[in-house]
Amino acid sequence: MRKIKVGVIGAGSISDMHFEAYKANENVKIAAVCDLNERRAREKAEYYGANQYYTDYNELLSVQEIDAVSICTWNNSHAEISTAALNAGKHVLVEKPLCKTVDEALEIERAVREVDDQVLQVGFVRRHGTNAQVLKKFIDADDFGDIYYAKASYIRALGNPGGWFADKARSGGGPLIDLGVHVIDLAWYLMGKPKVTSVSGNTYSRLGNRSHIEHKSFYKAADYDPDQNTVEDMFNALIRFENGASMMVDASFSLHTKRDTGELKLFGEKAGAEIDPQLHITTEKHHTILNVTPEIDASSFDMMSGFQNEIDHFITCVKGEADTIAPVEDGVEIMKVLAAIYESSETGKEVYLR
Ligand SMILES: NC(=O)c1ccc[n+]([C@@H]2O[C@H](COP(=O)([O-])OP(=O)(O)OC[C@H]3O[C@@H](n4cnc5c(N)ncnc54)[C@H](O)[C@@H]3O)[C@@H](O)[C@H]2O)c1
Repeated sequence: MRKIKVGVIGAGSISDMHFEAYKANENVKIAAVCDLNERRAREKAEYYGANQYYTDYNELLSVQEIDAVSICTWNNSHAEISTAALNAGKHVLVEKPLCKTVDEALEIERAVREVDDQVLQVGFVRRHGTNAQVLKKFIDADDFGDIYYAKASYIRALGNPGGWFADKARSGGGPLIDLGVHVIDLAWYLMGKPKVTSVSGNTYSRLGNRSHIEHKSFYKAADYDPDQNTVEDMFNALIRFENGASMMVDASFSLHTKRDTGELKLFGEKAGAEIDPQLHITTEKHHTILNVTPEIDASSFDMMSGFQNEIDHFITCVKGEADTIAPVEDGVEIMKVLAAIYESSETGKEVYLR
C-alpha cells in the first residue's frame, strides 16, 4: 500500500514528538523537513531519513508528492502556513494553539471550507491521552449525567520559558495561550463542547519572568534572553456555557506559590472525575460514596502515547477512514475563548460571545 508522505514544518522541541510518532506509524514516510534554521532542518532530515529539507515552507509545500504536513512552528505563523498548506492540497496537523487571534482562526476555517476531502486537525493532544480516552468512554455512557462544572489549575512558580514563548509578537501571549489552551480545551471537550456564552477573566504581570532567581533551575527556550518578556505572568477566568455549566481556570508562568500544580476536575450530576494529576472517579451507589481508581497503564497524561494516538488518528483521517476529533471549528471556538479572556482582562468587564 502507498505510504502517506509527510513534511514537518518547524523542527524545534515539539517536532520530535511528531517525528517519532510518524516514524512508528507503518503507513507513513517522513519525506521532508523545514525550519528557518537550516542546520536544525538538515539535522532532523538526516536523523529521520527525510530526503529533502528546506528553510522556506513554500518550497516544501510545492513538492507534489507530499500528502500531509505537521506545523510545529511558533504560533505567529500557524495561520499563514495552515492556509498555504491547504491551498497547496496538503492535509494539515497544526500544533496548538490554532493561531494567535480570532481573525486568523476564521481565515483558517474559511480555507478549510474551500477544500474538499482535506483534513485539518488541531493539535489538541490532551484529547488523545489514554486517561482522556478512558474517561470519555464513561462520559459517553452517561455515567456522569450532566457535567455542570469544571475546574482547572496549571500553576508554575518559576516557569516562564523565555525565548519566543515570552515574546507576545510570536506567541500571542503567555500562560493563557500556552497552558490554558490545553486545559480549557480538554475540559470543554469532555463536557461535550457546550456553547460558550460569556467569559470573565483577569491577567496579571506583576512578577515578570523571575530571571533573577538563583539556585533553582527551570526550562529555558533555546533563545532565552533574561531581559525579554512581554507576556502575562498568570491568568484566571470564569467561563459560562449556554447549558448553564461553568468552568473556572487559572494558569501561571510566575507566581509566589509553594509548588507547581496541574489539576483538572469535572463535576456531573451522577459522578465527578479528576483527570490531572491522575484519573480518578468519584460517584455513589446504594447510598454510599465510592472513590474509584481505574487500573490503566497511564493514569496521568503520557506525552509519548498521547502524541502517538494523535498522529495515528490524523493518518487514519488522511486515509479517509475517520473524521477528526479535533476539527478547525473547535480551534476557532477555543481561540474565541482565549481572546475573550484577554479582552475581559483589558476592559474589566464580562465578554459575551453570543
Ligand atoms: N502539544 C503540546 O503539548 C505542545 C508542546 C510544546 C509546544 N507546542 C506548540 O508547538 C509549536 C512549537 O513549539 P516548540 O516548543 O517546538 O518551539 P521551538 O522554538 O522549540 O521550535 C519551533 C521551531 O519552529 C521554527 N520556525 C518558526 N517559524 C518558522 C517558519 N515560519 N518556518 C519554518 N520554521 C519556523 C523555529 O526556527 C524553531 O526551530 C508551538 O505552537 C507550541 O505552542 C505544543
